[in-house]
Amino acid sequence: MGSGSGLAWTCIQSFKNAAGFANLAGMNGIARLPLSSPTLLLAVVLMLAAPVGRAQPGTPNAFEQNRKLGRGVNILGYDPIWRSRDQARFQDQHFRLLKEAGFSSVRINLQPFRRMNAANGYALSESWFEVLDWAVRQAQAQNLRVILDLHEYNSLGADPVTNKVKFLAFWRQLSAHCQGAPDSVLFEVLNEPSRKLTPALWNEYLAEALAIIREKNPTRTVIVGPAFWNSIDHLAELELPAADRNLIVTIHYYTPMDFTHQGAAWAGRKDKLGVDWLGTEKELGVLQGDFDKAAHWAKQHDRPIFIGEFGAYDKAPMESRARYLASVARAAEQRGWSWAYWQFDSDFILYDIGRDAWIEP
Ligand code: BGC
Repeated sequence: MGSGSGLAWTCIQSFKNAAGFANLAGMNGIARLPLSSPTLLLAVVLMLAAPVGRAQPGTPNAFEQNRKLGRGVNILGYDPIWRSRDQARFQDQHFRLLKEAGFSSVRINLQPFRRMNAANGYALSESWFEVLDWAVRQAQAQNLRVILDLHEYNSLGADPVTNKVKFLAFWRQLSAHCQGAPDSVLFEVLNEPSRKLTPALWNEYLAEALAIIREKNPTRTVIVGPAFWNSIDHLAELELPAADRNLIVTIHYYTPMDFTHQGAAWAGRKDKLGVDWLGTEKELGVLQGDFDKAAHWAKQHDRPIFIGEFGAYDKAPMESRARYLASVARAAEQRGWSWAYWQFDSDFILYDIGRDAWIEP
């Protein structure tokens, strides 16, 4: 079994000096999207004023962990590297590029179910763990914090009952494998629980997965979000163990879908192009209203918030895309939240690996 493969975790360097707000202000990658420094400075001040959580003494505080996630990006979800190392699109140097651009974390999207089967007890292969360990080590070498995100929402949404065995087997193995990893490695229980994984069922599944994780990782920071694709509107149904303070709550934000998913066949909008987002008072009002709703929930429940995904498909008009991304990112930062842009490569693209260049407005 991969987790017993002896692939030891090496903390390549200390993470005590992980980049803080000063570095965020200096980012120049996604920052090519319009950023104004007064807004950013204001955001920095507001972030420092974020509420302090109550982790057990000696364990990393979830609010502090969230602050350190800062600005992140989703990576590796649809990279052929998981089939074979020599087909990798993402390379060592991309971790450095992300760091130099000012990012402080990566959310690694994991889709292991197709490689798990009953015949060998759903064991993940050594080669799968080798890719995972490579990615984590490269991120660590750049002082990028790492979220290991189980991205099997399609399988679990279509047939939660059948796929539950893989879901729990995955967490049993990953939790054992990462037992010795530094606190800069975070787990995310499941991306966008949805469809047949109803809010009630999701509460049961997440409690079971969390119990498995806590056997070997009693204080690791774990990220978990509401059902209905991590929607703000379903935060109220999310049930978390009240005593577990090492949790960050994630939401995804793609509102308005007609803008962010224009041209996206999987969202039924293949031919609906040319939708702008101008940052009008009305548009900004929707964004602020949605985020205020989430902030209210977070305050009531004393939980930090991470926007694990937001973005606009690359078929959206570029100027609107840049305007929207900057508005969402700044609105999150003003509330002391961390975020991860969807995504580095592939669709919603931020970096063109073929041309070796950032996408710019
Ligand atoms: C999915 C992607 C999709 C994105 C935006 C992600 O969670 O994995 O396939 O492009 O959401 O819809």
